[in-house]
Amino acid sequence: MLPCGVVLKNRILKSAMSDSLGDGAGNPSEAQIALYRRWADGGAAVSIIGEVQGDPHALEKPGNLVVAADSDTEVFARLTGAGTASGAGLWAQLGHAGALSYAPLGRPRGPSSLELDGLECAELLPGDIEQLPDLFAKAAKQAKALGFTGVQVHAAHGFLLSQFLSPLFNRRSDQWGGSLGNRARLLIETIDAVRAAVGGAFPVAVKLNATDRIDGGFSEQEAAAVITMLDDTSADLIEISGGTYFPGARSSGGGRPGEPYFLDFARKVRGLTRKPLAAVGGFKTYRQAAGAVEDGTLDMVGLARPLVVAPDLPEEWTTGAGTDPEFPRFENPREGAVTAWYTLRLAALGGAPLPGFPIEASSGVPDANAALEAYDARDRARHEVWRARFG
Ligand SMILES: Cc1cc2nc3c(=O)[nH]c(=O)nc-3n(C[C@H](O)[C@H](O)[C@H](O)COP(=O)(O)O)c2cc1C
Repeated sequence: MLPCGVVLKNRILKSAMSDSLGDGAGNPSEAQIALYRRWADGGAAVSIIGEVQGDPHALEKPGNLVVAADSDTEVFARLTGAGTASGAGLWAQLGHAGALSYAPLGRPRGPSSLELDGLECAELLPGDIEQLPDLFAKAAKQAKALGFTGVQVHAAHGFLLSQFLSPLFNRRSDQWGGSLGNRARLLIETIDAVRAAVGGAFPVAVKLNATDRIDGGFSEQEAAAVITMLDDTSADLIEISGGTYFPGARSSGGGRPGEPYFLDFARKVRGLTRKPLAAVGGFKTYRQAAGAVEDGTLDMVGLARPLVVAPDLPEEWTTGAGTDPEFPRFENPREGAVTAWYTLRLAALGGAPLPGFPIEASSGVPDANAALEAYDARDRARHEVWRARFG
């Protein structure tokens, strides 16, 4: 049972994935509806849709959903109906890409202006920052009205709230920067505003980095201190992840060799909070997942890529018939190519494969670099549709 009183049917969380299956104008597509039905039928307690935006100018990609007063309520109702079949929860991850907003269509603005190779953004003004908790709160209220059964505040991976936490992005000297208390202020105010908007009985989760995994970034010590701060908020679940899209940062991984990436960190912080704790990243076997729950480290196990290659895994693992998923191996993938390959696989799972990327495992090594090209081309093809709705 979550602190808000909602009872989840098991301990497996389909962690947020930006599926890029919006219709290009911020509303769900048929493939997306089919995908979330697939996962609901597959047995996860909750599926989280990644990168659902309240501000269309702070998009991560043009395949994101946008929750707004003029959203297509009928098609959203079909999505949330499909995603909550079989007693599953369907939560919206409330995103805001901030400095990493998709430049062709958005306005990259973060805590501080940056001009780096691969990252250029303007600085948010104090008046803009003050309005951000309310922006998240409105998105949360809208998500609830559209039929989502919970929300997750995205404070990980180098997007806006994670940018505020990280000294790499946040070089401010006002009340939003400097000390950890100041850097965490926006996150805490956002959780409070979201809670006020959705009421006491609705799940509000937070996804937080254990570490940025780069020198000078948000560290494990700081993450532990933020977890202590979160204990005093109304958050229902803290999901631990890690890594950032700051130029030069190492991609996913970490932790003890052969273990899920953030399990060791979760052990260290378990005693710091009474909140339900989840971790995502690197769970590959039933034993790892069951062990983390059985020994009391985690209340829920987050899975992303495992549920792309094996969407029925939760059903199998909770009925004891579980085999371990098999993952593809890639050769010399370019940056972003592996994620692109998984994203195209989601389109196929939703019954709308891109040409050349069917669901059947093709023999040999999957071509992640070709997936990246197809993925980028699909985004470019959405530009006009996005602009037509959002300007
Ligand atoms: C295709 C893809 C898209 C993702 N999109 C998001 C996202 O929108 N939001 C988020 O918090 N994490 C996102 N992630 C990260 C996952 O939630 C998870 O943290 C990461 O994949 C590690 O977990 P895993 O080893 O179970 O895959 C994405 C991962 C993949 C593979």
